[in-house]
Amino acid sequence: MDKEKFLIKGLAGSRTLEGEIPVGGAKNAALKVIAASLLFKDDVELKNVPNIEDIKKLIELVRDIGFGAVSSKEHSYIISPKDRISTVLSPEIAKKIRSSVVLTGPLLARTGRVVFPHPGGCIIGARPIDFFLKSYEMMGAKIKETKDKYIIEAKDGKLIGAKIFLPIPSVTVTETIMMAGVLAKGVTTIRNAALEPEIEELAKFLNKCGANIQGAGTSTVIVRGGPLLKTGGVPLSIMPDRIEAGSFLILAALAGKDVTVTQCNPDHIEALVDVLRRSGVKIDIEKSSLRVTCDSRNKKKEFQSLDIKTHEYPGFPTDLQAPMTVFLTQAVGESLVHETIFEGRLAYAESLEAMGADITPMDPHRMLVKGATPLHGKDLESPDLRAGLAFVLAAIVSKGNSTVHNVYNIDRGYESVEKRFAKIGVDILRVSE
Ligand code: EPZ
Repeated sequence: MDKEKFLIKGLAGSRTLEGEIPVGGAKNAALKVIAASLLFKDDVELKNVPNIEDIKKLIELVRDIGFGAVSSKEHSYIISPKDRISTVLSPEIAKKIRSSVVLTGPLLARTGRVVFPHPGGCIIGARPIDFFLKSYEMMGAKIKETKDKYIIEAKDGKLIGAKIFLPIPSVTVTETIMMAGVLAKGVTTIRNAALEPEIEELAKFLNKCGANIQGAGTSTVIVRGGPLLKTGGVPLSIMPDRIEAGSFLILAALAGKDVTVTQCNPDHIEALVDVLRRSGVKIDIEKSSLRVTCDSRNKKKEFQSLDIKTHEYPGFPTDLQAPMTVFLTQAVGESLVHETIFEGRLAYAESLEAMGADITPMDPHRMLVKGATPLHGKDLESPDLRAGLAFVLAAIVSKGNSTVHNVYNIDRGYESVEKRFAKIGVDILRVSE
């Protein structure tokens, strides 16, 4: 994978972007449905799967344990179960993406065993997996930890349903244990479960294929275990990516004259719409699109500062915190940004300060943003996918040229984002380093 960078010519605060920007399939839904394919007896056909790095890596992992996985056409996959599959997740691949840990639930539930490497933390935090391990133990599994991997074996090869309380409503733990419960013996109850819409969508799909899951999308999920699932040949189309939709809406608010974010579900980004509207952004909402207009008369329309605090769904999503901070640098007044979910998700602010933003870190979870400050173009290194996207937004509103390096990080979560940005008028080019 040769390294690439984005060259961006800033708009210096003018609002000239016009047109439609379509949203792709949700990364954080597709990753879990691919993992769920391990619960099936027959082929699982998926549509509207985003063509992004994390998906490619997880497909590699599923192939590596022996499942078939072919991409018949763009954004589609057919995943075929095989009888003889490995219970060992390849460390080389698994260590590259945190979400590989989601495979452990279905694989353990199907085969009675799973071996996988410490997923390792990442730039936004330690990303521990203690809740996964504790839940497996409560479902009767034995866990052996060596210096570089975990060996987990279900008692007599079969997980037993258990009543599990999550200390934190973890998204992937909720999804992974819900999937494991589908093949476990008896009933699994998850209390203090996460409420993300991707969880409800996953359960709906599994129930259509023979699972018995109640309460997904609420804080109590009840799973009655049963046999392997069957799609009966009915394909699943992945839901729209609410974090893409939110990221694009923030771009429209920052630099849009008349921009419509399409093929999305506005209900899934209520917290962001509420914040942007309170700041003064004009947003018209249709069934599957949001339109931002800023009449050219008051091109210098000012947005009001306000505090944002990230929170589990339906609160303000942590994955939109960095893009939102870029918006707040252009709002008039002081805004407190409080990141409650991850302990390392504010580091990117230093680069925004180098572009002219006035940001005062207060502790690992909070910083004060004073606006509105004009930004100037810089050489930027994208640290993780959401901060990387935030740097692209900052470069677009800046005066002068910027380079965003390490575009691989952005490609992990946004498919060919430069093509969609260029179509509404952003001057952005992808070139090799
Ligand atoms: C999911 O991560 C998403 N990833 C993240 O999106 C998202 O930021 C996060 O949910 C919060 O919404 C996927 O769905 C693949 P958590 P997840 O478990 O499930 C702690 C992106 O940019 N925790 O809800 O890993 C954890 O450290 C990514 O698309 C434990 O302590 O997040 C965190 O502080 C980034 N022990 C808190 O829970 C555990 O065993 C919430 O994290 C598991 C988690």
